[in-house]
Parts: sequence; C-alpha cells; structure tokens
Amino acid sequence: MAQIEIRDLTIEYRKPNSDEPFVAVDRVSLDIAKGEFVTIVGSSGCGKSTLLLAAAGLVNSASGTITINGKEVSGPGPDRAMVFQEASLLPWRSVLGNVRFGLEMQRWKKDDPTERARRFIRMVGLGAFSDYHPHQLSGGMRQRVNIARALAVDPHVLLMDEPFGALDAQTREVMGDELLKIWERDRKTALFVTHDIDEAVFLGDRVVVMGRDPGHIREIIDIDLPRPRTAAMLDSDQFAAYRRRLREGLGEDMAAMHMITEAA
Ligand SMILES: Nc1ncnc2c1ncn2[C@@H]1O[C@H](COP(=O)(O)OP(=O)(O)O)[C@@H](O)[C@H]1O
Ligand SMILES: [Mg+2]
Repeated sequence: MAQIEIRDLTIEYRKPNSDEPFVAVDRVSLDIAKGEFVTIVGSSGCGKSTLLLAAAGLVNSASGTITINGKEVSGPGPDRAMVFQEASLLPWRSVLGNVRFGLEMQRWKKDDPTERARRFIRMVGLGAFSDYHPHQLSGGMRQRVNIARALAVDPHVLLMDEPFGALDAQTREVMGDELLKIWERDRKTALFVTHDIDEAVFLGDRVVVMGRDPGHIREIIDIDLPRPRTAAMLDSDQFAAYRRRLREGLGEDMAAMHMITEAA
C-alpha cells in the first residue's frame, strides 16, 4: 500500500463575489510510496498549492480522497508538516524559540524539546544563530529555520510548497543540495512543489507535471538518477535529457512558469 493515496481528487473554490464553483484540481490520482521524494511542476494556477493544502488537510475536497497511512485526511495532523515559500516564522521568537514552537504545539514528550530543537538547528547549519530573531537572518537562513521546525516534529510526510522560490538561484541550489543531505538520513516521504525544472529533477524520484484549466496531472516522469545526488549530475547528459523532456512536457507553460514568481 502506498503511504499517500490520492484518488480522483477534485477541489473547488468559490469564485470571488459569486456562488459559481471554480475547479482548481480536477480528478487527480497519485500514489506515493513511503520514503519517496515526489516533485511537482506546472505553470502558475495549475493547482499545485491546492493539492498540497489538501494533503495538509487545509482545504476540503469536492470529491475524491487523500489517504495517508491508510487513514483518510480530514484535517491537519502531526503526521504531516508543511513548509511554505514565505518562511512563516514568529518574529518575536528566536530561531530556537521558533523551532521549539512546533514541538510545543504538539506537546512533544519523546525527548527534551529544547535539546531536540537545538539538534535540528545544527542540522540545518544554524547552530551559531539559535538566539537570532527572524529579522536578523537572510531569506535562506529563515527557510532553514522553517525546514528545521518541520523536521523536528518527526512527521511522516513533508509537504513543501516552493520553499526556495523566494531565494536567488545560487542560494536555492545550495539549499536543494542541503535538503537532500538531510533527507538522505531518514528519507521522509516528501511532496515538493517547484517552478524550477532543474530543482524538480535534482530532488525527485518522480516529477509530476501538472497542467491547468482545470488543474490536472499531465504526466509523471521517473527520474533514474542514482542517490545520493551530486551537483556534478546537473551537467550530465542524462540530466539534460530529463530537462529537455520536462520542457517539452510543459510546452507553452514554460514561459508562464518563469515569468511569474509569485506564490499563486
Ligand atoms: N482560496 C481560493 N479561492 C478561490 N480561488 C482560489 C483560491 N486559491 C486558489 N485559487 C485558484 O485556484 C487555482 C489554483 O491555485 P493554486 O493551487 O494556488 O495554483 P498554483 O500553486 O499551481 O499556482 C488558481 O486559478 C487560483 O486562482
Ligand atoms: Mg502555488
């Protein structure tokens, strides 16, 4: 049994100022195995965020189901952690306080929350910044805190919606590399949205290509690059072939993906 089973999922929103429903995700089905890293690409508005929010239990489906570990998703839960593009940190709390916060929310008792928070802060390379506040950190550092907070609560599933979308190209490459190093340790099941094709290939066991109007899965591409992934792979012929294949799969949506960098 797959760890995440998405079955014929349809999600509707109300159009603003009207009762007319708007289909954001149309009959999407997808199975994700435990420990798999699945990336999702597609143009702005094709329902990527909506799909993740549904998995997080933050939006309801009009029809269809999402099952995680055999249990149907009906709301948020400690088995899932979400990381958004804008690091949603508490400005009045330090780095330590922010990572601890996730544990406090869950009344974490398996080990000492402060020690645990410190361990995950070290893991994301911020050991020297535990007492800093969010406004004293760069965008990349803030996103590391976000990732530490998500990982510290030991979720079964990690949901990441363009977590590096607001970072410059160089920082995002470093962050992707570091995320994989952390992920290699315990291989949490991950669903990762990006508008960067290289990032999708570099991180993913599979890349899900979505199309819009209404949001649907266009194709799913297996990425047969060995793990651990290394930066050198970015220059390989195999990588170039995946890059080409994805560009073709996205077709005209490519332009829209790169023009628009907002968190639609
Ligand atoms: N809360 C909402 N109410 C109404 N429409 C929404 C809402 N959230 C998203 N949408 C619409 O649903 C579609 C999919 O949005 P989204 O999942 O954010 O796409 P993506 O993340 O792929 O850019 C878009 O057309 C967007 O305008
Ligand atoms: Mg989005």
